Amino acid sequence: MTKKITVLKGDGIGPEIMDAALQVLEVAVKGTDFKYELDYKDFGGIAIDNFGEPLPKETLDSCVSADAILLAAIGDPKFDQSSIRPEQGLLALRKELGLFANIRPIKIPEVIAHMSPLKPEYIEGVDFVMVRELTGGIYFGEPRELTPEKAIDTNIYTREEIVRIMRVAFEMALKRGKKVTSVDKQNVLATSKLWREIASEIALEYPEVTLEHQLVDSCAMLLITKPSSFDVIVTENLFGDVLSDEASVLPGSLGMMPSSSFGSTGVALYEPIHGSAPDIKGQNVANPMSMILSVTMMLRDSFDEEQLAQKIEAATDAVLGAGIKTRDLGGTASTSEFTQAVIAKLA
Ligand code: NAD
Ligand code: IPM
Ligand code: MN
Repeated sequence: MTKKITVLKGDGIGPEIMDAALQVLEVAVKGTDFKYELDYKDFGGIAIDNFGEPLPKETLDSCVSADAILLAAIGDPKFDQSSIRPEQGLLALRKELGLFANIRPIKIPEVIAHMSPLKPEYIEGVDFVMVRELTGGIYFGEPRELTPEKAIDTNIYTREEIVRIMRVAFEMALKRGKKVTSVDKQNVLATSKLWREIASEIALEYPEVTLEHQLVDSCAMLLITKPSSFDVIVTENLFGDVLSDEASVLPGSLGMMPSSSFGSTGVALYEPIHGSAPDIKGQNVANPMSMILSVTMMLRDSFDEEQLAQKIEAATDAVLGAGIKTRDLGGTASTSEFTQAVIAKLA
């Protein structure tokens, strides 16, 4: 059956990297049984420009009825002082679709391991997954207030929210290295005390999996000094946001990092972990790997197309291996040159 994919190019470098990834997808599926149709919708800053809001109803409707969603990135500095912001659309979309689990894999392709800012002995064997809680915590808690004299954000986690994200992490660990690192700030925060308690409770259901607890500040340090010691990291919304950008330094660029988000409703969303990179917008220099690898996550996780996913990953590895790299990785290839090189490997 033809799969419907909602495509949200968004803002900044979003359209450039989405076009690149869709070209790769088109060539990769040629001659296979995988059939898909694309439904392009405005989202983020471009949707504010065209509809007055970052998540228009027709965009949400398309996402709700899709088999999968591809999002490039949103955000534009022109909205920095505005009360309506592109980021509100992203938070609303995650909430509306119940996408409570965000999976951010950190793996270093061997061919570029020598380019990591860390010494080889530090990054050898790095292969872990960040499981970030995505619809709770301080991002959504009420009350929220901003006056010139006082500002309030509220961090809230319920038992149910923690239990379900823990189960995602432990199930994932079962299929991988059988270790979960739960990250919190239980020496200070009530939400973290509950987080740690529930992590320990859920661990009893998974005797094959080792659970370790880590405070978020020291975890930030260990991500650099002992990154190969991690298998599955599970953490709350805000900590996961910060730690995953930090972890992107290990392979060498934020521009290579994909993610998937899913919840209870079935539909999943695939997006790079980075933003709209306004500093390099429209220059044809962005690294499209984050979006291409988000497409491979979609093929694997939403459509069970393991072979197609591997074929694309092998092609991107081969291109990197041939020394073709975008500027963020120290190379000179443009977005389109890198993309054409991947396509040439696929053809
Ligand atoms: P950013 O992730 O957009 O950029 C950080 C740095 O990484 C920049 O120097 C950028 O040039 C570089 N970079 C990012 N992606 C790259 C790629 N594919 N290739 C090469 N270099 C790349 O973070 P920022 O500048 O702090 O935020 C810009 C906007 O993006 C903000 O409006 C922010 O809210 C938004 N944002 C959106 C998302 C999302 O859509 N999921 C995620 C993060 C930030
Ligand atoms: C991300 C982004 C978003 C987040 C912003 C743009 C709302 O930084 O996806 O990592 O904080 O979740
Ligand atoms: Mn982020």
